[in-house]
Amino acid sequence: MSSTLDHIADEIRAHKGCGFEPCEQATNLVPGEGNPKADIMFIGEAPGKNEDLQGRPFVGAAGKLLDELIASINLKREDVFIGNVVKGRPPGNRDPKPEEIAHSWPWLKDQVAAIQPKIIVLLGRHAMDWFLPDLRISADHGNAKRYRGQVYLPMYHPAAALYNGGLRQTLFDDFAKIPKLLEKVKKLPKEEVVIEPAYEAKEEPVTAQTESTTKPKAKETKKADQATLFNI
Ligand code: URA
Repeated sequence: MSSTLDHIADEIRAHKGCGFEPCEQATNLVPGEGNPKADIMFIGEAPGKNEDLQGRPFVGAAGKLLDELIASINLKREDVFIGNVVKGRPPGNRDPKPEEIAHSWPWLKDQVAAIQPKIIVLLGRHAMDWFLPDLRISADHGNAKRYRGQVYLPMYHPAAALYNGGLRQTLFDDFAKIPKLLEKVKKLPKEEVVIEPAYEAKEEPVTAQTESTTKPKAKETKKADQATLFNI
């Protein structure tokens, strides 16, 4: 019997014809993979070259570091779920555009809803900006936040540590916080979980490949949203 996650993955793999470069130019779309009941869900940016070729998330150099980080807290890839905000490789590994993230969002949202992770680890600023746009990775990495019932943990992207060796230890230090955080989250009073981005990015019409140059604007309800953002 196929699970909800399998169904979403099949849908992603079969997807075509939308006009967005990452979907249209991909060798393989990359749904993400892992434990359907994972307590911890890792969300990165977008597939790179190796991921595009293999159809699997984080299988290149950044993935090797992610595997080491996961092992450092005595877990294996199969224990967690690993995905991305964009399901196709942006051409030339360019940054994903907000409208491309918005385009992949319904799948990611369904994946989060199916898994109901205790913690969503946001790997890098693209994932962080989508869920918690008012944070800054340099200031907020390693600090868990609860937003509308969901606990998020922003982290540097493992690829950043490949370019800036100093971040490697920072990543291991931030990862080391996960086991205690998980115990804490399990004891939190239950709250309704609302998974939605903290701003609205519009999907562009199918044929438009317009340039987006800036971070998407926060919703006008930003103040109200802030009221539900807690440090853990
Ligand atoms: N970087 C990402 O953000 N995701 C991957 O799947 C691989 C590299």
